Amino acid sequence: MSETALRPHRTIRVELGDRSYPVHIGAGVRNLLPEIVAGSGAKRVVVVSARPRESVPETGVETLFLTARDGEQDKTLSTVEDMCRRFADFHLTRSDLVVSCGGGTTTDSVGFAAALFHRGVAVVHLPTSLLAQVDASVGGKTAVNLPQGKNLVGAYWQPKAVLCDTDFLQTLPREEWTNGFGEIARCHFIGAGDLRGLPLHEQIGASVARKASIVMADERDTGLRHLLNYGHTLGHALERATDFAMRHGEGVAVGTVFAGRLAAALGRIDEARSAEHLEVVAHYGLPTALPAGPTPAELVALMRLDKKATDGLSFVLDSARGPELVHAVPERVVLEVLEAMPRRL
Ligand SMILES: NC(=O)c1ccc[n+]([C@@H]2O[C@H](COP(=O)([O-])OP(=O)(O)OC[C@H]3O[C@@H](n4cnc5c(N)ncnc54)[C@H](O)[C@@H]3O)[C@@H](O)[C@H]2O)c1
Repeated sequence: MSETALRPHRTIRVELGDRSYPVHIGAGVRNLLPEIVAGSGAKRVVVVSARPRESVPETGVETLFLTARDGEQDKTLSTVEDMCRRFADFHLTRSDLVVSCGGGTTTDSVGFAAALFHRGVAVVHLPTSLLAQVDASVGGKTAVNLPQGKNLVGAYWQPKAVLCDTDFLQTLPREEWTNGFGEIARCHFIGAGDLRGLPLHEQIGASVARKASIVMADERDTGLRHLLNYGHTLGHALERATDFAMRHGEGVAVGTVFAGRLAAALGRIDEARSAEHLEVVAHYGLPTALPAGPTPAELVALMRLDKKATDGLSFVLDSARGPELVHAVPERVVLEVLEAMPRRL
């Protein structure tokens, strides 16, 4: 199908020299797949999909379809080994192509298998969850989990294209929307502007555009990419403190409200800007209060384990200049702000 035959959609280019690629966003954009396969020159394609077979269009070349399962439990090295064995049995070469179709766990693990097989074979992502569309499938970070922790083994491997087909979201369970909206709400404070009231595909487009611009400036996470962790320091601590009963998007949402309050307590922003954090998070129907249970001291202990915490407690915090990574935030202030946060009963 030619691009012009598609319903209107938006294309954002991630410009990274010879690793540049388009992210197409809109209803039906998965139908660009055969054109992308033809343009790649691949003679064979392996499709690894957590969605039903009919979710992925015909590729136009000899294709092996592998069934995957979304979820952290399958985001492992042994899944990657299984995939690579199947690629080898199918005689996939370095000039062929892998296609992932699924949530962020599937795009992460298939992306990692593609990065490793023959030291790198091209991959196209078809993200099917809102979180995978606004975040996981764009930017080239791929990884799997170890029993010791999440995303401990991975590689940077930029895809050849990303097809964020909003039609996939029609079947997304209600609770999964929270994870995506947590990341969209965070974008408000990292330079994407006010996305409230925009149609969903425009919210996805603006979030992808913001992520793309950050990745273009800092592909390998040595600086600006920290901004993507806005709200995540407390968010990750809340996920762990609640044994993951609190979902990622919920943690990021409460973490975003907290980041606004902490920035105000440190004199970096005024009360109105701090209140905007709560308004934006509430707008997306996300939680704004701490869950019952974890104490401020427990949360501080978990936040000290954050990967950004190389110098005391570290947070990405707003300021008149925009958001910045702030190290050595005094524990006393963090505890006071946590104590003052509303709690869910
Ligand atoms: N690489 C990155 O830069 C990056 C960034 C953010 C998150 N991530 C990773 O993304 C993962 C989380 O992604 P996720 O939230 O998509 O989780 P997921 O892959 O587990 O999917 C969440 C759930 O939604 C279901 N689902 C997905 N699409 C569906 C659809 N269209 N219809 C019905 N059900 C559907 C899945 O089966 C699963 O139950 C984490 O492992 C995280 O580490 C990676």
